[in-house]
Amino acid sequence: MIILSVESSCDETAVALTEDGRRILADEIHSQVDVHKIYGGVVPELASRRHIEVISALADSALNKAGLIKQQIDAVAVTFAPGLIGSLLVGVNFAKSVALALRIPLIPVHHIRGHIAANYIAYPELAPPFLALVVSGGHSLLIDVRDYTDMSILGSTRDDAAGECFDKAARALGLGYPGGPAIDNLARGGDETKYALPRAKLQGSPFDMSFSGLKTAVINLIHNAKQTNTPLDCASLAASLCAAISDTLVPRVISAAQSAGYAKISCSGGVAANSVIRKALLAASKEHNLSCYLAPLSLCSDNAAMIGCQGFYEYMAHVKNGSALADSDLNAYATMPADSLIF
Ligand code: KG4
Ligand code: ZN
Repeated sequence: MIILSVESSCDETAVALTEDGRRILADEIHSQVDVHKIYGGVVPELASRRHIEVISALADSALNKAGLIKQQIDAVAVTFAPGLIGSLLVGVNFAKSVALALRIPLIPVHHIRGHIAANYIAYPELAPPFLALVVSGGHSLLIDVRDYTDMSILGSTRDDAAGECFDKAARALGLGYPGGPAIDNLARGGDETKYALPRAKLQGSPFDMSFSGLKTAVINLIHNAKQTNTPLDCASLAASLCAAISDTLVPRVISAAQSAGYAKISCSGGVAANSVIRKALLAASKEHNLSCYLAPLSLCSDNAAMIGCQGFYEYMAHVKNGSALADSDLNAYATMPADSLIF
C-alpha cells in the first residue's frame, strides 16, 4: 500500500511516500528555520504562509524521487493534531484535496503517534507493546504503546516541554533558534556538575514531569551573571542543563517500562537527538535489561515518513475493526491527547 503523507504541524513542511508503512520511497522536508531564526522562535502566521508556498512543489518532488505518478497513490495520511492551528490547516486542506481528486482514503494521524512510528521505520523488528518516550518542542510524554493504535499516556509534563526548556535557555545564552542542537554541541566541552540545577518531582505522580522551574533557574542564572558581570561557564551550564533534563526523563522511562511489565523502550521526537539523553538511556536500559530503540537522528525531528508509517497502521486498524477514517469535513486541532482521538 502506497501512502502519500503530509506533515505541517509546526515549522517543517514535509511530504513523503511510504510503502506498507515501514519502507520510505521519498521523504521531502522543507525547514523554515531561515524564516523564524531572526525572531528567536516560530511565528505562527509566517509558518502557515510558508507551508502554503512550498507544499505542492514538495509533493511533486516526492513523486519524482519515488518514480511514481499520482494515480499509484493508495491513500493520503496527514497530521491533523496537535500543533499550530494555521499550519495544520494547510496540510489538512492539501491532503483533503488530494484524497478528493484521486478518490482515495484520507487518514488522519496524530503527530505524537507519528513520532512513535519513526522507530518502526528504523527498526523492522520493533512491534508493540513497549514504553515510548516522546520528547519534542511542545511535548514530553511517557506512553504505554499496547498496540499500533491502542495506547495510553502514563506521564507528561505539567508545564513546559523539555524542548521548550532547551530553546529558551539557548535564547538567553544568545545561541539562536532552534536551541536544542546548539546546547547539545556546547555541552560537549562542559562540566555537568558545575551548576546545581533543579530536578522537579511531583508528589503522587511518579511519571509526570515539570520543566518550568528548571527553565526559570537557568534563565535567572544567566541574567544574574550578566547583571553582576560574573563570568559564566556556558559549556558547563549547557552540560548541567542536559544532565538535569536527562536525569528527569531517564529514570521515569525505566520505571514506567518496569511497572507496565515491558522489556522494550523507545525514544523519539526532536529532543531524542540529544547526545546526553541518548547515552543515558542506553546505559540505563543496559543496566535494567531493557531493549532500547532510539530514533535515528534523521527521523527525530518532524518529518512526513513517520506520519505515513503511522497512517498505514491507522488504516490497518480501520480494515481490521472498522475504526473511523476521515472524509472531506476533517478539521485540524491545536490540542488533542495521543491516546484518545476525536475527529
Ligand atoms: O519534534 P520536533 O522537531 O518538533 C516538535 O514537534 O516540537 O522537536 C523540536 C525540538 C526543539 O525544541 C529543538 O530545540 C529540540 O527538538 N532539539 C534538541 C536537539 N535537536 C533538536 N534538543 C536537545 N538536543 C538536541 N540535539
Ligand atoms: Zn514533532
